[in-house]
Amino acid sequence: MKRKSIKQIQAQAHRQDPIVMLTCYDATFARLLDEGGADMLLVGDSLGMVIQGHEHTLPVTLDEMIYHCKSVARGSQRAHIVGDLPFGSYQSSYEEAMRSGIRLMKEGGVQSVKLEGGQRVLKIVEGLSQAGVPVMGHLGLTPQSVHQLGGYKMQAKSQAAAKQLIEDALALEEAGAYALVLESVPADLAQEVTQKLSIPTIGIGAGAGCSGQVLVIYDLLGLDERFHPSFLKKYRDLSNDIKAAVQEYGNEVKTRVFPAKEHSK
Ligand code: KIV
Repeated sequence: MKRKSIKQIQAQAHRQDPIVMLTCYDATFARLLDEGGADMLLVGDSLGMVIQGHEHTLPVTLDEMIYHCKSVARGSQRAHIVGDLPFGSYQSSYEEAMRSGIRLMKEGGVQSVKLEGGQRVLKIVEGLSQAGVPVMGHLGLTPQSVHQLGGYKMQAKSQAAAKQLIEDALALEEAGAYALVLESVPADLAQEVTQKLSIPTIGIGAGAGCSGQVLVIYDLLGLDERFHPSFLKKYRDLSNDIKAAVQEYGNEVKTRVFPAKEHSK
């Protein structure tokens, strides 16, 4: 089956049909999320935190991103796959950014790439789009700039910052971005940006006025009981389910209930 194209994603937004995006890092989840009806799978560099156990996304390499993108591409058939360009793969020079974007699409098997920032990435967005690599922008809380921002906080709360964000969003669209993630910005600002743009916005911690929503799949499933930001809705509580299953298994192994006869044929 053919994957959703950027044109289909944009048409969906124009029909006011909300876009469902989830992060995904491996083939098993890719199959489940694809069959569950996700429109877009984001191989986010959030994998640095939820898969690799780092404090932030900065250590993730381009080779690691390609590895996870390949797994997600193998596991899914229908959803559009977006791969994150990790920190350090597009900041040093225009040429490096072009090489990284092309590698992620060519080797990772994604249909588009995502990068963070406004004015400073416009030339890269333009270059990649012209080279045939569709680019999703990312404004607001941009986790790769965590040290500059001083933490994971709501962004664009002042009038000046809101004005800058609107200018950046319009400039990204002008440069060729086909969609835009808005992370941790006030809901009314996200709605205003969405109304001003003709490309879709995908929100996380940005209210209901965006063209679609994205969540980290591990967060949605409740895999980390220590993490409960206000924007997150946990649709399941799998951390407790998993611990209970492991305890049950452990008890049965210790009491020799498992494996039973039917597991030993
Ligand atoms: O890396 C990621 O998972 C992301 C989303 C949270 C938007 O960028």
